[in-house]
Amino acid sequence: MAVLFPLDVNGLRQPGFSFGSAMNEVNQRLQREAQRIASRHPMPEFYTRFKAPVALARKLFYGEPTVVRMREIVRSILQEDLGHGLFHSTHVSLDCAVLIWVEMQALRFSDTDLERLMVLGLLAGLLHDICRSEENHAEAGAREALRLLRDFPVTEVEADCLCAAIRNHEAFTVPRPCRLPWIQLVSDCLYDSDKFRWGADTFTHTLWCMADCRGLSPRQILEKFPWGMSGILRIVETFRTPTGREFGPEIIMTGVEIGKEIYRYLLNWCREETNAQ
Ligand SMILES: [Fe+2]
Ligand SMILES: [Fe+2]
Repeated sequence: MAVLFPLDVNGLRQPGFSFGSAMNEVNQRLQREAQRIASRHPMPEFYTRFKAPVALARKLFYGEPTVVRMREIVRSILQEDLGHGLFHSTHVSLDCAVLIWVEMQALRFSDTDLERLMVLGLLAGLLHDICRSEENHAEAGAREALRLLRDFPVTEVEADCLCAAIRNHEAFTVPRPCRLPWIQLVSDCLYDSDKFRWGADTFTHTLWCMADCRGLSPRQILEKFPWGMSGILRIVETFRTPTGREFGPEIIMTGVEIGKEIYRYLLNWCREETNAQ
């Protein structure tokens, strides 16, 4: 059975994605426990069904010169302590490119056009959270992306596409319609791949980075848990592509199941802490 951890959804547990040294010890322990819990869950079908596009997306992500250069640039901009750094953006990028590949199978496109759209999907994923700490980070990110893209070999309409997708990636907002069907496709795929992160990644990664950054104790994390879980459940209804609507709910519900186990673990943790006082 393919499992979610320690291999991770895209085999991305590389040394560069470890934040243990910067995180406080309690959060490190809780994150390790969350990863142990996640390792018992099967990998969602999206990652086992589409192995060929997953491999192609990875090849482009690590080998296509524009993507490689953009990754180096955003590495220093992205804010790992908010849980939306290179780990998050890498997964969004790869899933976005896979979604584009799957969605395009029903359409008549050459391999060259397909790969170009996948490259745009990878760039969109890398760029979408570059202004994560700013007010209206989607709009601010779109503006900053446009500035960065001036030095990249992308056409005006491709830059337009990336900005439209970044502008539209925020959850629970009404997206702006895009002016061309292929721009709409990249925009919808970026949204869905970003929301796939609300599954297991929330509990194996994002939660602990955010808790650590905000100085939350396990008890404070516990208090916010029901609110966080209700938001995660609401995202299921918002997927925008047919593939996202088909495979996204399983990704989210896998995260919810992991979350429930972590919630029980945290309850016990807090109980034991109270008894020890
Ligand atoms: Fe975002
Ligand atoms: Fe994101």
